[in-house]
Amino acid sequence: MSEHFIEFRGVWKSFDTQDVLRDVSFHMDRGETTVIMGRSGVGKSVSLKLILGFLKADAGRVIVDGQDVTEMTEEQLNPIRRRVTMVFQAGALFDSLTIEENVAFPMKALGNVKRDDVDQRVAELLEMLEVTPFAERLPSELSTGTKRAVAIARALAQNPDAILYDEPTTMVDPLMAAHTGGLILKLKEAFHKTSVVVTHDTHLAKRLADKLIFLHEGEVGFFGTWDEFEKSKEPFLRNFRLQDELIPALDVTG
Ligand SMILES: Nc1ncnc2c1ncn2[C@@H]1O[C@H](COP(=O)(O)OP(=O)(O)OP(=O)(O)O)[C@@H](O)[C@H]1O
Ligand SMILES: [Mg+2]
Repeated sequence: MSEHFIEFRGVWKSFDTQDVLRDVSFHMDRGETTVIMGRSGVGKSVSLKLILGFLKADAGRVIVDGQDVTEMTEEQLNPIRRRVTMVFQAGALFDSLTIEENVAFPMKALGNVKRDDVDQRVAELLEMLEVTPFAERLPSELSTGTKRAVAIARALAQNPDAILYDEPTTMVDPLMAAHTGGLILKLKEAFHKTSVVVTHDTHLAKRLADKLIFLHEGEVGFFGTWDEFEKSKEPFLRNFRLQDELIPALDVTG
């Protein structure tokens, strides 16, 4: 048993000859938001997929809600995937269903929720994610940022114990990124749901992170609070922070 909600114990994951994760250990606690950062290709999305069993570790253990999911079958993983939902980058909405129907879908799939309760909960979630005006529209009529807000509403519809976000603020303009970041922050403050947020967005990370995991060259380069991260004198962490400070400076001069 693990008292943490999610735990990686000495996890290894390779593809062909490439070792992506090398003896990676960390944990995520109930009700906390954990941000995962690190350079492109370092294994952030792979880590999320290991949590949900979409990928299997080569060695080590992955524990979710006290259960060892490392070698679970698809059938055994189904209840885990109902309690821990993932918001994919592109949203992955059903194209032929309206926004309202998309958000209602997980509740209807559960089968035991009354029609009025479904309608009320859908209305609340659309309101919370600020997409009520789009209720009757189809996903194809919406921008990427709006689709992502709907995908978050749909992920929350089944009332999961935890929610995983893979780069929720990429592929949109800075204003939309800030808007989506604001929504995630609002959800954190409203629900205190166990959350994992993979992001390159340091402004968002700073606002959201109870804990930060920084992956570096296949290992956990840093695991702690944002304050500790900012104070760390590790050269690779300092470089990462410095580069980030340069970006707004370049914007001003450009
Ligand atoms: N199914 C797969 N088959 C083969 N290689 C894979 C697979 N999934 C991931 N990889 C490789 O593993 C490495 C880590 O991938 P991952 O998607 O986790 O990176 P990431 O940290 O999420 O990067 P980014 O910030 O660009 O999204 C990459 O080199 C990628 O090419
Ligand atoms: Mg990724």
